[in-house]
Amino acid sequence: MTLSAKRILLIIGGGIAAYKSLDLIRRLRERGALVRCVMTAAATEFVTPLSVGALTADHVFTNLFDRQDEHDVGHIRLSREADLIVVAPATADLMAKLASGLANDLASTVLLATDKKVLMAPAMNPKMWSHPATRRNHKQLEKDGILFVGPNSGEMAESGEAGAGRMAEPLEIVSAVETLLDDSAKPLAGRKIIVTSGPTHEPIDPVRYIANRSSGKQGHAIAAALARLGADVRLVSGPVTIADPTGVKTVHVERAEEMRDAVEQLLPADAAIFVAAVADWRTADASDHKIKKVAGKGPPSLKMVENPDILSTVGHHSKRPWLVVGFAAETQDVVKNAQAKLKKKGADFIVANDVSPSGTSKGGAMGGDRNRVRIVSKDGVDEWPEMDKDEVAARLAELVARKLKTISV
Ligand code: CTP
Repeated sequence: MTLSAKRILLIIGGGIAAYKSLDLIRRLRERGALVRCVMTAAATEFVTPLSVGALTADHVFTNLFDRQDEHDVGHIRLSREADLIVVAPATADLMAKLASGLANDLASTVLLATDKKVLMAPAMNPKMWSHPATRRNHKQLEKDGILFVGPNSGEMAESGEAGAGRMAEPLEIVSAVETLLDDSAKPLAGRKIIVTSGPTHEPIDPVRYIANRSSGKQGHAIAAALARLGADVRLVSGPVTIADPTGVKTVHVERAEEMRDAVEQLLPADAAIFVAAVADWRTADASDHKIKKVAGKGPPSLKMVENPDILSTVGHHSKRPWLVVGFAAETQDVVKNAQAKLKKKGADFIVANDVSPSGTSKGGAMGGDRNRVRIVSKDGVDEWPEMDKDEVAARLAELVARKLKTISV
């Protein structure tokens, strides 16, 4: 169990996402963690201390001025007797309080009194998240060493509005907690590893672009898994709606050329893993104004040129990392094509995945949660069974760790 006997103090803020905290408690406990909860007064409007207490199997703390609670445990002990404090959902209010050092209820007092790491999972309306005040508070908290997971983009539960502000999913929060607390094995400590992830967007004009169905799930999961093993992970991500993985330094790019530049700037590195579904082509000359429909002229024809191949650039680079891993998204002749890519692109391994809709049992790897891969190297082909992308990531991170072990830091 990855979190065996780890003590987590979970502060539940007042937001509709509080219902997800119930699942979060369950997931943390499944992994062996001891979870104790503080709820703000607003949180108790969304979920009851009774259900929270039933899941933690512990007393739930709600009131700074409760004589019994203060006598039994006290807010200082509450914050010190934890290995990690998790705030989920972290509301705009809780962020603002901590950013300015306010302590007028139990949750904010615990946060100010702690000497432990604090991980916040923000959840709020997209307008609140993008408000200059929240932007300021977020920056300040990051400066103060507060860690963040999420928020994700997507539709809000209450308003149907879209944008960043949705709380990270319980399993994403668990994975962030594991990154911070699972110190059982850190075989990649001291190793710098570059990962590319997600699609690229190639502009046609200021409002239109060419894209693909990559979600970034597999690449982000690999970055998180490498970080869990102690690596200094630099993720170069194309446009995705999922959250930056915790404990990973993420650079955001749009186009293939930007991705190549970002990757080259990060060299040298011990290893590089290219998971991004980079667009093979871009328009030769993207228009700097919106292309209009002109009556009688018909649709415009787009002239395409080839994008740089980032994997191949790095595979043949003067600063080539010791280990270079590529992916091969194929719909037919999976192994044969992967073997050809291995040679052509200068990789040590190609992780070949069948992205045809029948490639996995649940509607295909592209955008889905499952993946079935084969590891192709000059030594042969290793077939892995179909599994969750998180599991593929964990196994791949272990493979990278085994390979890097043979060279000294
Ligand atoms: N890749 C890259 N830069 C590109 C295209 C691909 O870095 N411009 C990387 C991908 O991240 C992946 C590998 O190359 O690791 C293979 O990508 P894939 O799309 O399967 O191969 P292609 O070279 O594009 O070949 P094809 O589309 O013809 O199968």
